[in-house]
Amino acid sequence: MSDSLIIGKDKFVTLYTEEQIKKRVKELAHQISEDYKSSIPIFIGVLNGSFLFMSDLIRYINIDCEIDFFKLSSYGDEKISSGNVKLLKELNCEVNDRDIIIVEDIVDTGLSLKYIEQLFVDKKPKSMKVVSLLVKPGSLKYEVKIDYIGFIIPDKFVIGYGLDFAQKYRNLGRIYVLNEKGE
Ligand code: IMP
Ligand code: MG
Repeated sequence: MSDSLIIGKDKFVTLYTEEQIKKRVKELAHQISEDYKSSIPIFIGVLNGSFLFMSDLIRYINIDCEIDFFKLSSYGDEKISSGNVKLLKELNCEVNDRDIIIVEDIVDTGLSLKYIEQLFVDKKPKSMKVVSLLVKPGSLKYEVKIDYIGFIIPDKFVIGYGLDFAQKYRNLGRIYVLNEKGE
């Protein structure tokens, strides 16, 4: 897979390779399996961005678990958050009195996660934790709790491994970051 990508006027460079992602996802899965060994948690993926992370993570989980997904609105075709979140597809499972783990691709401003926290208050899970593959602490605008973090990254736009730009590039195996200096 190439080290860099040119998309229009933008240049993206490799931030994490497939091997680095796999290693970290395995470590997260082992930690979560250990923490939930006396429970049957439900992993709840936030579509679309988390689909690859979710499928890889779940493969390394070595305890009984269930999965479900719901879908939130995305950035549209922009590289910055619209400031609005909408629920585009509801959850189908019953989470009342269950241990749930929200699976996110990335926490940027924290707006989506804040929305998710509210969404689950009425559903009364027994516990709710959050695993996010990526977190941009420099962009956080809302106070949110993230229990498991894959990588802490700079406040720059990233694509690949589920993350899109205008719905494209989710299929890339690596995570690429926008090189704003155009070097
Ligand atoms: P937040 O609500 O600002 O925290 O953004 C959360 C959502 O925006 C993530 O779940 C992603 O789907 C999307 N997002 C945030 N940053 C990026 C990025 O750098 N690349 C692609 N999508 C992003
Ligand atoms: Mg997302």
